Amino acid sequence: MPYFMGKQSDDTKAQIDILVEELNLYNYEYHVLDAPSISDEEYDRQFRLLRELESQTGYIPPNSPSLRVGAPPLDKFDKAVHSIPMLSLDDIFTVDEVRAFDQRVRETLETAVVTYTAEPKYDGLAVELTYERGRLTRAATRGDGTTGEDVTQNIRTIKTVPLYITGEDVPELIEIRGEIYMTKADFDALNEMREEGGKYLFANPRNAAAGAVRQLDPAETAQRKLRITCYGTGQIKGITLSSQTELMGWLKKHRFPTPYRFKTANGIGEAIDYIYEMDAGRAELPFNIDGVVVKVDVFALRERLGEKTRAPRWAAAYKYQAHQGQTRVLTIIPSIGRTGVITPVAILEPVAVGGVTVSRSTLHNWDEIRRMEIRTGDTVIIERAGDVIPKVIWVISHDAALDTQVIEPEVCPECGSKAVREEGGAVLRCIGLNCPPQLQGRIIHFASRAALNIDGLGDKIAVALFESGLVKDFADIFRLTKADLVKLPRFAEKSAINLIQAIEKSKSTTLARFIYGLGIRHSGEFVSKLIAAHFDAIDALYGVTAETLSLIKQMGERTSSAIAAFFADERNIKTIETLKTLGLTISNPDYREINDTGANRKLAGLTFVITGTLPVARRELEEQIRGAGGTVSSSVSKQTSYVIAGESPGSKLGKARALGVKTVSYEEYRALFSE
Ligand code: IVH
Repeated sequence: MPYFMGKQSDDTKAQIDILVEELNLYNYEYHVLDAPSISDEEYDRQFRLLRELESQTGYIPPNSPSLRVGAPPLDKFDKAVHSIPMLSLDDIFTVDEVRAFDQRVRETLETAVVTYTAEPKYDGLAVELTYERGRLTRAATRGDGTTGEDVTQNIRTIKTVPLYITGEDVPELIEIRGEIYMTKADFDALNEMREEGGKYLFANPRNAAAGAVRQLDPAETAQRKLRITCYGTGQIKGITLSSQTELMGWLKKHRFPTPYRFKTANGIGEAIDYIYEMDAGRAELPFNIDGVVVKVDVFALRERLGEKTRAPRWAAAYKYQAHQGQTRVLTIIPSIGRTGVITPVAILEPVAVGGVTVSRSTLHNWDEIRRMEIRTGDTVIIERAGDVIPKVIWVISHDAALDTQVIEPEVCPECGSKAVREEGGAVLRCIGLNCPPQLQGRIIHFASRAALNIDGLGDKIAVALFESGLVKDFADIFRLTKADLVKLPRFAEKSAINLIQAIEKSKSTTLARFIYGLGIRHSGEFVSKLIAAHFDAIDALYGVTAETLSLIKQMGERTSSAIAAFFADERNIKTIETLKTLGLTISNPDYREINDTGANRKLAGLTFVITGTLPVARRELEEQIRGAGGTVSSSVSKQTSYVIAGESPGSKLGKARALGVKTVSYEEYRALFSE
């Protein structure tokens, strides 16, 4: 006779039963009621004791919490046929539709007021739990409604799913339906952990929960902190439940979690109030809901209402405006805005989000694309909050067949000018003066008071000139005639003459005004004056390097690069030259002023001698030094301020040392004299 059949083992069995009973209660208090009555340590201690006793005796009660872990992984899930199909719900989006639903129900039932129930619509995945004589024998996903997958081993790991129910009102068979979900906090913690482990992240709690339920290894599922809420039944044999309200009572009694703030509503008005209240508080809920489910309370009335193929006539799902939608990226194109910024835009398979159809979405910038690895063919989640422009927030999967890397364009898609990456930023900008989407804004700026000061060419006139097609590029301004203008609705003879005269007058301008008018990034009036002080004419700026510019005192690096990029573009130079042929003359009073004093320049009063091979062309360095007011000499003397020594320097280095003249490398020179 095995030892555990003796007296002592009877006592142990009784002890196991008590432990199971108590641990299940603690579990319920902890996970469902959120009110634990013992500490985690005490729970763990008792749980370890239970496992020890169970392994000593081989006696494991069917509702033992130890059964929640440890089932071996599966190869695949078995099919699970639902004895009663798991239907879906009709979605409705307005309160009028809720009233229309009530109207239909009352007409069919021929009653004045119907009792409804209202529950949150949990955003998770539906499952059905089968209890035979109190014991959980199967858990299945909804699948297509008729056939799902047998996920019993996984569902057993969810601590709030009772494994065994007891009592007088436990039926021979009951199928309980509910939603598996994950709280926002558990989801965040999971993703954080996955990020640390270098694993791919989940888009939202629903995807994470669905993924966990469909894990072949139950040990994995056990780690995912899933929850359940129970809201319906399939087949029942052996007891009679007559309403949703009664079902809720029964479920609670048997420790099933039930929908948060379940409400029995007397008439549709109370259900509508509930919808509003839930909507107001839903952001603060610890889990995601996507609406409220309104159901006829009494089961006998449900039967009279019946079902359609897909959904019952006795229930409706009021859906809150979805802020997210799933779709596919058809292609990614560069798109240029009025300020010249070139942004990548995803062209999407149209999808309804929050009441509008979305078919394009900005991808923000080019770094973002690389960071998110968005490509053509990807399945993505887009989000639209309020009336904000839709954004791709998540890539769910790549289409391997269409695995095309998105390439940042080198030139503007509209005008072919160079696309410049702004330093330190992920912003790509077109620097083309005549770039069509930017032109209107550029011309308004060009004509403004501090620039060419074309009196009468304000915003409205600029728009009119554009829309009429009279001005298609910068040069067209200087080609305008009185005859052109009088044809426009805004112009009378007098105002046309005035504008032509103002344009004529603007043709003799200063370099500072002209540079400012070009609207180069970071180049306001101050910078424009600064440049005019250092360069005698506009041509002196053609092809200027950022290095040269940065020698100017008070000139920042960003500004230097932006100006250099602008004047490196041949199209821009061509446009300026065309303006000159149309009569534009640029004087430069600012240049003389500064040159007279000279002292304003960074290297004024300093003499340099260059020796050896430098990282830049010697001629360029000399030009820089002279540009900044310095002197370049070919021989070292006591008057020499600095010797800039490159690789394999000649005898000049020795002479400098002998005379005690400071010697610097090119890098040191840069560090000393450019901010
Ligand atoms: S009742 C025929 N109640 O919504 C009645 N469903 O769109 C069917 N859901 O498949 C279900 N919370 O996955 C019901 N309180 C709730 C629910 C709920 C979420 C899900 C469920 C169902 C889907 C229908």
